[in-house]
Amino acid sequence: MIRANDNYNKLKASYLFSDIAKKVDEYQQKNPGAQIIRLGIGDVTRALVPAVIKGFHQGVDEMANDATFRGYGPEQGYDFLRQTIAKNDFQDRGADISADEIFVSDGAKCDTGNFQELFATDIKLAIPDPVYPVYLDTNVMAGRTGEFEDGRYNGIVYMDCLKENNFLPRLPDESVDLIYLCFPNNPTGSTATKAELKVWVDYAKENKALILFDAAYEAFIREEPLPRSIYEIEGAKEVAVEFRSFSKTAGFTGTRCGFTVVPKECMVFNSKGEKIFLHAMWNRRHTTKFNGVSYPVQKAAQAVYSEEGKVQVKQQIDDYMNNADIIRKTVASLGFDYVGGKNSPYIWVDGKDRDSWDFFDLLLTKAGVVCTPGAGFGKCGRQYIRISAFNSLENVILAMDKLKEALTGRSSAK
Ligand code: MLT
Repeated sequence: MIRANDNYNKLKASYLFSDIAKKVDEYQQKNPGAQIIRLGIGDVTRALVPAVIKGFHQGVDEMANDATFRGYGPEQGYDFLRQTIAKNDFQDRGADISADEIFVSDGAKCDTGNFQELFATDIKLAIPDPVYPVYLDTNVMAGRTGEFEDGRYNGIVYMDCLKENNFLPRLPDESVDLIYLCFPNNPTGSTATKAELKVWVDYAKENKALILFDAAYEAFIREEPLPRSIYEIEGAKEVAVEFRSFSKTAGFTGTRCGFTVVPKECMVFNSKGEKIFLHAMWNRRHTTKFNGVSYPVQKAAQAVYSEEGKVQVKQQIDDYMNNADIIRKTVASLGFDYVGGKNSPYIWVDGKDRDSWDFFDLLLTKAGVVCTPGAGFGKCGRQYIRISAFNSLENVILAMDKLKEALTGRSSAK
């Protein structure tokens, strides 16, 4: 008899963003004339910049000619892209990461979800609450949790990120083996300083633990002293793996490209307590299960780092951050507390006594604005909503006006 993985029964019926998309579709079907502005899932709206399109075209043209055509590429990514990433994202910022420590992939969602395959089932996990659901759900699927009770999975060490602690996870009271961190944070938009990250690196070293560091939003950092990579912290290479993405940085959500950094000295331990180097393990997994990102997409990703690419991509990010400013100012003017939106495209709004799904429904039905209910990110998100800055300026201004009107009966447009 073919048997199912029972761990799937522990999961909520559907993935957060699929759930939201379904609700919005249902609303749209019932209200075909209603204008809907999507500030929910963090999906970019701006076209790929000209430099990236040029790189993409070059790649496609090479595929059209027998002399330059490429079949299977290296699973880890072409050297031209790995070298470019290592220099621009790490070495130029003082982080000693080499090209062969970079594994190019189809995005950070897949890598953050897949990486847990390398660890034993009975390790102790520390996960922030609220959290990007992929970290948690993939560990549920793998059988690292108990049942879901009262908003939480048994067996997980949750690190509450609340106003009282500036939405920063605190070191757990008990010893843990694997720690998920994300800065700038999704969903709260909070950031961590070098000193704050150092505490985690020191903890990981002392406890023989590993940090999975999601830096998918580093390009949105505005305050320069903030670290963009965990490898800006001394000693991190032994105890941290970092995930990056071109999705939000350069508009690749539909194009798909990201990368994971697994330093050569980064280690875990086998059941005998012997050191095992993660680089070799991930390389084994990646080469077995992944056949590389398409050549034109890697050419497009390389173009993100060209002189014109850097300027054009920065302009797009600045535009999204201008949207974030507008959202922050609007929610503040309505008397809401919020965090984020300064070094992150997400604004985490305290709905006070409102339940986050009720707040979501209210904004959808009264303002036609889609946000993400905080409860979808964990128990600590139950009174919050997340508003994303990914849309056009025009739509963000309109959305904020509709939001104001829905909540106060006043519109700034009138
Ligand atoms: C989000 O909205 O949290 C992200 O877009 C989801 C993702 O990157 O997969």
